[in-house]
Amino acid sequence: MAPSSVLLAILSLVSYVHGHVVYPPDSQVLDSDGHVRLHASQLTNVCKLPAPLGGYLSEGHVPKGSRNSPSAPSVGTLKAKLIFVDFPDTPANDTTQTLYNDLVPGSQAWFKTSSYGRLKLSVDSDMTKFYRMPKASTAYTFNRFGAKQELYIKDALAVSALDFRAKKYDVLYIMPTRAAVEITFSPTKISPTTFAGGIIPNIVTFGQDLHLKYGFKLLNHETGHVIGLPDLYPSDSTGLPRGEWVGGFDIMGLINGTHPDYFAWHKWKLGWLNDEQIDCVAAAGSSKHSLAPVEIPGGVKAIVVKLSATSAFVVEVRSELAPQVVNNTACPLGMVVYTVNTLGTNSRVPPILVLNTHTNLPGCAIDRGGRLTTATVDFSRGEKSFKSVPYGINIAIDGVRNGTYDITVSWNGMVGSSSAAVPGSLSPSPWGGFPKGIGSAFGEDSEEDGNRKQTELNGPLTED
Ligand SMILES: *[C@@H]1O[C@H](CO)[C@@H](O)[C@H](O)[C@H]1NC(C)=O
Ligand SMILES: *[C@@H]1O[C@H](CO)[C@@H](O)[C@H](O)[C@H]1NC(C)=O
Ligand SMILES: *[C@@H]1O[C@H](CO)[C@@H](O)[C@H](O)[C@H]1NC(C)=O
Ligand SMILES: *[C@@H]1O[C@H](CO)[C@@H](O)[C@H](O)[C@H]1NC(C)=O
Repeated sequence: MAPSSVLLAILSLVSYVHGHVVYPPDSQVLDSDGHVRLHASQLTNVCKLPAPLGGYLSEGHVPKGSRNSPSAPSVGTLKAKLIFVDFPDTPANDTTQTLYNDLVPGSQAWFKTSSYGRLKLSVDSDMTKFYRMPKASTAYTFNRFGAKQELYIKDALAVSALDFRAKKYDVLYIMPTRAAVEITFSPTKISPTTFAGGIIPNIVTFGQDLHLKYGFKLLNHETGHVIGLPDLYPSDSTGLPRGEWVGGFDIMGLINGTHPDYFAWHKWKLGWLNDEQIDCVAAAGSSKHSLAPVEIPGGVKAIVVKLSATSAFVVEVRSELAPQVVNNTACPLGMVVYTVNTLGTNSRVPPILVLNTHTNLPGCAIDRGGRLTTATVDFSRGEKSFKSVPYGINIAIDGVRNGTYDITVSWNGMVGSSSAAVPGSLSPSPWGGFPKGIGSAFGEDSEEDGNRKQTELNGPLTED
């Protein structure tokens, strides 16, 4: 181990360098106040919150090869089979080609763009016909609380006589004719289905919300579950609007949102970002960072402040450089700040919660993300800092170069209430004020309010 004088010498270099810094392996890097600052390039696991035991549909990272790994790959080629169905009461009034066009090319392009080319969706589609289901479209009661999805799947597998024994697929997509208005929504079964033709690990049964609300990104949302991502919208039982937790910043929250991409946190979990593209802050102090926009390849994509074994505070940047397939807004861009809770589920506790830096504004696109559509800190609109009192974090934007935000993060070491996020418990907030001296250098601060909820864990095998 190097003596501390050497580490401090390394430090004085670090303080003035933006972007990547090469640190000696296994060293602690100290800032000028003697605080420890870690960088992901050699301390990758510190901020990589592990998935809680028992399931991969959480914000936690699942080690490769673990029993809880998703059954489908998020890097490489994801192999899908697509079939079309119609019903005795609603024979097809469209063609397999028009439905294919609505669903496939766009979602393939989305995965290619969002994953920076790391995930290829290959779709083997049976364009020959609509397989006629044995029962009327009404028989499957696809309303939200009573869909007979198992029966629907069983019937579709029987009429199409699929044979998956020779060729393996990661997911089966079942697409109904548009005439079948009763097939309203699109749940995903993420547990294996065994049938006469073999085993299929995951099945998405599409509904008319593809046409009526969401478009092809519905496939990217549902397939997001297949590769391990949870829902980020509050479930209907909460009575909260869909955009309540993450606005339109991630299609696992709102498929038709303003910024229809995945969060950098998701891209890291999926292996679309390298560990070197995450700046990990794991101890109190100040540090400088350069954040490149999430929607384009290259650069550091997130600053992660590790709050506890199950929670983190994350900063990322959205930009006008976003390719069209992941852009759906003229709303404010800039820095997005959110917390991650690996114990969260969509029944009550947000797995990800975007902090609203403009609680005084009503939002910019109410039907595409609600109030959080103005949650960003947008340098181009003269906004230069954000202070989160509950987490003791100050963020100052030092400048923006072609979409890249140069940022100073100061953390006083507080962890908010997230470290107390025990399933089933509702604990009072232990948050206090921001200590004197750290926050005073920042102008135009805004603060998010501190409401948080806690919930029990549950792991539904069908998601929508
Ligand atoms: C098929 O029927 C549905 C439901 O009535 C309708 O919305 C759709 O426009 C029809 N498509 C064609 C091509 O007529
Ligand atoms: C992003 O999409 C919005 C809405 O469609 C549009 O107004 C804006 O110009 C787009 N931005 C870019 C850079 O294409
Ligand atoms: C987007 O989806 C939400 C949730 O389903 C819906 O309430 C809203 O009307 C949709 N917005 C648009 C513009 O279609
Ligand atoms: C700005 O960034 C974009 C995307 O990375 C790049 O294509 C472009 O050349 C850059 N422009 C300048 C002036 O550096």
